[in-house]
Amino acid sequence: MSFWQGLKKPFFVMAPMADVTDVAFRALVLKRGTPDVFWTEFVSADGLYHTREIQKMPDSENPLMRDLAIGEGQHPIIAQIFSSKPEMITYAVKLVAGLGFDGVDLNMGCPDRSIEKQGCGSAMIRTPEVARAVIRAAKAASSLPVSVKTRVGYNKESLDEWLPMLLEEAPAAITLHLRTRKEMSLVPANWELMKKAVALRDRLNPDVLLIGNGDVTSIEQGKRLIAENGCEGAMIGRGMFGNPWVFAGRKPEDTPLSEKLAALIELAHGFERLSPPKNFAVLKKHIKAFATGFDGAAHLRAQLMEAESADELEEIIATP
Ligand SMILES: Cc1cc2nc3c(=O)[nH]c(=O)nc-3n(C[C@H](O)[C@H](O)[C@H](O)COP(=O)(O)O)c2cc1C
Repeated sequence: MSFWQGLKKPFFVMAPMADVTDVAFRALVLKRGTPDVFWTEFVSADGLYHTREIQKMPDSENPLMRDLAIGEGQHPIIAQIFSSKPEMITYAVKLVAGLGFDGVDLNMGCPDRSIEKQGCGSAMIRTPEVARAVIRAAKAASSLPVSVKTRVGYNKESLDEWLPMLLEEAPAAITLHLRTRKEMSLVPANWELMKKAVALRDRLNPDVLLIGNGDVTSIEQGKRLIAENGCEGAMIGRGMFGNPWVFAGRKPEDTPLSEKLAALIELAHGFERLSPPKNFAVLKKHIKAFATGFDGAAHLRAQLMEAESADELEEIIATP
């Protein structure tokens, strides 16, 4: 039995987000209202393999291992990986299992061209047999539960074709981003489609948990969407921006500005401790999200965008 079976329903999970859900951001969220499941950023299985095996680089020097760091209390946590090559998945899952993760997730929804060119992300929706082989490899590589995160179709919704194959392979959970690849994130998520997914799941493999994803910004709204559409959980992505309290039930407007800016400072210091470091500019999306919605926000934001270190950012906030 894996942690998935022990989750109380409805449950709320952190979305995997590149350059967002690193160990520092997860620490920020954990202190303010923990999600039922943490997720890492996505990590290339091929990248892990090539850096360690071909370049003969020890783990300590492999920059990708930074993205697989687990902070204190950050459990249950799932490592999200991607590859279209089963042997790379086997390698990465064994590695991840040894690092103390509670589960592994396969990315089959990323619309980024550079990922799709490798046959990964959303491209998997068009190559279901590759997706099947990758799931089988992941399941065979360790005892960790395997989940899949995907979209409702490529150019058009194709749940009737795509979902049965996934259900047949019996992952512990499937997260459905309720948009097609073509829709990117440009149109509202279509939560109605979850009803269709739930009907397929109930008929074909009732053991698989379904998690809805797209445009959830509060627990209250998520509970309503889950109740209306029948899935077991919801995943929150952009709703965490500027609101690391979201899993505690807070809406962005519930938190005073001073507390938001203190959170931003804390995040910036945690971010600087990432090893190897990431470019400070990566924090800009957080600056935009935290420093918003009050008189003088645009001015403060412009100043904060110039900061090149956590100390500089803190100083600007102290003396606006
Ligand atoms: C900056 C950013 C990075 C993302 N990185 C990933 C990722 O690494 N893996 C993944 O499966 N999805 C990734 N996504 C997609 C999110 O996990 C989520 O599916 C999407 O944002 C829709 O959910 P939301 O409306 O709650 O944000 C990313 C999205 C954004 C905006």
